[in-house]
Amino acid sequence: MGVKIIVGAQWGDEGKGKIVDLVSEKVDIVARYQGGPNAGHTVVIGDEQIILHQIPSGILRENTICIIGNGVVIDPVVLMQEIDFLKQKGIDVTGRLLISHRAHLIMPYHHLLDSSREEAQGVDKIGTTGRGIGPAYVDKYNRSGIRIVDLLDRDVLSEKLRKNIAEKNKVLERIYHAVQIDVDKVIQDYIEFDHLIDEYVTDVSVYLNEAIRQGKEILVEGAQGTMLDIDFGTYPFVTSSNPTAGGACCGLGIGPTSIEAVIGIAKAYTTRVGMGPMPTEFDPEFSQTIRQLGGEFGATTGRPRRCGWLDAVVLRHAVRINTLSSLVLTKLDVLDTLPEIKICTEYRYKNKTIKNYPAEINIQEQAVPIYETHPGWMQSTQNIRAFEEMPANAQAYIRRIEELTGVPIDIISVGSRRDQTIRKNRSLVRQPDQR
Ligand code: IMP
Repeated sequence: MGVKIIVGAQWGDEGKGKIVDLVSEKVDIVARYQGGPNAGHTVVIGDEQIILHQIPSGILRENTICIIGNGVVIDPVVLMQEIDFLKQKGIDVTGRLLISHRAHLIMPYHHLLDSSREEAQGVDKIGTTGRGIGPAYVDKYNRSGIRIVDLLDRDVLSEKLRKNIAEKNKVLERIYHAVQIDVDKVIQDYIEFDHLIDEYVTDVSVYLNEAIRQGKEILVEGAQGTMLDIDFGTYPFVTSSNPTAGGACCGLGIGPTSIEAVIGIAKAYTTRVGMGPMPTEFDPEFSQTIRQLGGEFGATTGRPRRCGWLDAVVLRHAVRINTLSSLVLTKLDVLDTLPEIKICTEYRYKNKTIKNYPAEINIQEQAVPIYETHPGWMQSTQNIRAFEEMPANAQAYIRRIEELTGVPIDIISVGSRRDQTIRKNRSLVRQPDQR
């Protein structure tokens, strides 16, 4: 019993939503520790596709408690819309959704600063989701952020907001020539939000540590992915938090010794949205083919995702940074019709072999991927439910990824539905009789 962390092993969008939903059937608690509504976790139930941005996808399992940790930045509008959306679907979150009183809030000026800065950057832009994530984290580390606890004291809240907005309005006007923020409206909106959110707010660290003591099964989910990590990703083309496993402890108020396993989710190929290096990216034409086959459009912004071959250098980086115990391989079926499939095993840069993902952005951009080519399996895997029944070439592809990364692949996903899943190893969650 203990805490298991699920992290994205690539640039996000690895299909974590489906896997968290699947695994949360057998866990007591699902917790998120970083990011905000920049994330988009997609779950398909029956014929319906549900996309959640702020609330963990574990909420779709009625016996699961869902937690939003202190490391998450919360957009009140998105959160309330999501709660209402779930209620309309007959999913009551009362008593099942807990939000840390230490979490920081995304403010209307964060949105404006995010989009104004991106626009002003021109060719150097990051390609953010425009959800105000970066500016909200800037204020957190600048020690001027507004936390949920600040909503309790109206005077303190008003004072902090007046000070912040006076400063932001100057920046918006003088640097970005953008519209001004109406401070009284913001104060009024956030006081209203306080009434709505009140029933969900708690000390998440106290709650989780007690749950750990009681032996509860806890799944902790990272948003985005390892390569978007502020420290270990393709900086500066990253998000403003630590999606890697280390972020889980700070973002929830639990200690490293409570972590039992870290599971990395990787797509059977590679995608990324936004700007920045991606060594194994396809040419535009093949990118378009795979995008269509895999439905590779951003769950939050709808932007077309860039597509490329599986990159074992990236996956080894993820294994090391997160100390991954195992991997889950998703969207294998997208490769079903390809006669040949490549895996990048290392890079070449100026006649040197690179085996570990480099920190220098120019090397990341110029490194030449060295590929090995595998024969495709050329048949549908979507209805296969056992590893042994998979085509020999698909089995060989999976085994080769295990060899190149040094970790076992526990689960293989061959479609978006819950049942389109192959459990190769059973170590990921306890079995029902262990409950
Ligand atoms: P931000 O997190 O909105 O500041 O965006 C920074 C970078 O991270 C951009 O390249 C985004 O496209 C990317 N990004 C943010 N969230 C996600 C996600 O959930 N999936 C994939 N990419 C993301």
